[in-house]
Amino acid sequence: MSEHDPILPELASGRGTAREAGSGVGATLRQSPAATATSPRKLGEDLRRDFPGLVSADGKPWHYLDSAATAQKPQAVIDAVARAIGADYATVHRGVYTRSAEMTLGYEAARRRVAQFVGGREDEIVFTRGATEAINLVAYAWPDKRRVLLSELEHHSNIVPWQLAGWQVDVCPLTDDGRIDLDAAERLLTPDHAMVAFAHVSNVLGSVLDAPRAAELAHAVGAKLLLDGCQAVPRLPVDVAALGCDFYAFSGHKLYGPTGIGALWGRHELLEAMPPWQGGGAMIERVTFDKTTFAPPPQRFEAGTPAIVEAIGFGAACDYVSAIGLEAIHAHEAELVATLREGLRGMNDVRVFGPEDSAGIVSFALEGIHPHDLGTILDEENVAIRAGHHCAQPLMDRLGVPATARASFGLYSDESDVAALLRGIERTKRIFG
Ligand SMILES: Cc1ncc(COP(=O)(O)O)c(C=O)c1O
Repeated sequence: MSEHDPILPELASGRGTAREAGSGVGATLRQSPAATATSPRKLGEDLRRDFPGLVSADGKPWHYLDSAATAQKPQAVIDAVARAIGADYATVHRGVYTRSAEMTLGYEAARRRVAQFVGGREDEIVFTRGATEAINLVAYAWPDKRRVLLSELEHHSNIVPWQLAGWQVDVCPLTDDGRIDLDAAERLLTPDHAMVAFAHVSNVLGSVLDAPRAAELAHAVGAKLLLDGCQAVPRLPVDVAALGCDFYAFSGHKLYGPTGIGALWGRHELLEAMPPWQGGGAMIERVTFDKTTFAPPPQRFEAGTPAIVEAIGFGAACDYVSAIGLEAIHAHEAELVATLREGLRGMNDVRVFGPEDSAGIVSFALEGIHPHDLGTILDEENVAIRAGHHCAQPLMDRLGVPATARASFGLYSDESDVAALLRGIERTKRIFG
């Protein structure tokens, strides 16, 4: 099997260098959300100490290469969550007592923090359970469900909601190096398309979308652009205005924050024009048995008691990541991607997918060895990768494989993780020899 198979790399231009990073503490209810810089620390090993989850029970290094599935949590986030569910805990928005008023301030401060993180306004951030729910929200609440253009590399979370909500789904193909083919998108788009929904960064290939061009193409036919930013927010600086998108969906747990919380950023006038998609407390203005009127966005889309604690943890995660800096994180992960790809290229019978400049994620397949077998043997070596279809079965069909092995990096990853993975692959090949 050649490594130069369908979805294949051009040579990397511009590999970044890891920069020195400042340390940071997250926001809490009573602490300033601004992270405090102390002595400069390098990404990778230095920052590992912030992550209790990276210490393995047997005291040996644990090589966690599954951050695209979910990222480990820094102590600053754990502390913010513990305080919010402990000493500071109360409900939000309803209480007339001090603790509840303070909690409401904390919850809304977290919304402001998440908004700043992606360059949006706070009244444009709807808290959701995650990216999946954010995409479902738009798929169901958008009033004009006609045709949506997706791509072959989408996560199931950006396919199934559109199908269930009754949209006509069209599919944009990929280029041979694994990017969404925007020339093809231009040919496919018609005035009948109300929405284009693309991954900003592919969770399998790591390919980065040219979002401003996608926005231009969508807007030229009168469609809106939704970006699935799940894999982009932990690894690229994101500014929704510069991207030109209309909606941006992402999850807290991939951004070093808690599970059960995510956000939909939407342009305010679009959120204003959308009816609610779930009913309940907190999203109303006035309820009678004859007629109910609804709160303005974002409250209109947050029915029920929200994920208060998780939202505060999400804000703390934004602080932690901002203090380190996404440019530094991106450059650091780019170095690791380049080292891993080089190592894989030096092996026989390995097929590497996706473009050379992929963001923090490398998928590959070994000739004659199922990714699950590889993953199991790597686990014996304290190396954790993901093996499977990565919730992207149409992409597996496009690649012509049932599954891939995937290594994905975080700000705590370093060269020792890459070396351990490459050693483990060599061992697996010897075992299956
Ligand atoms: C690109 C992409 N989109 C959407 C999702 C769904 O995210 P969540 O399960 O946090 O809602 C994921 C999760 O793996 C993803 O990688």
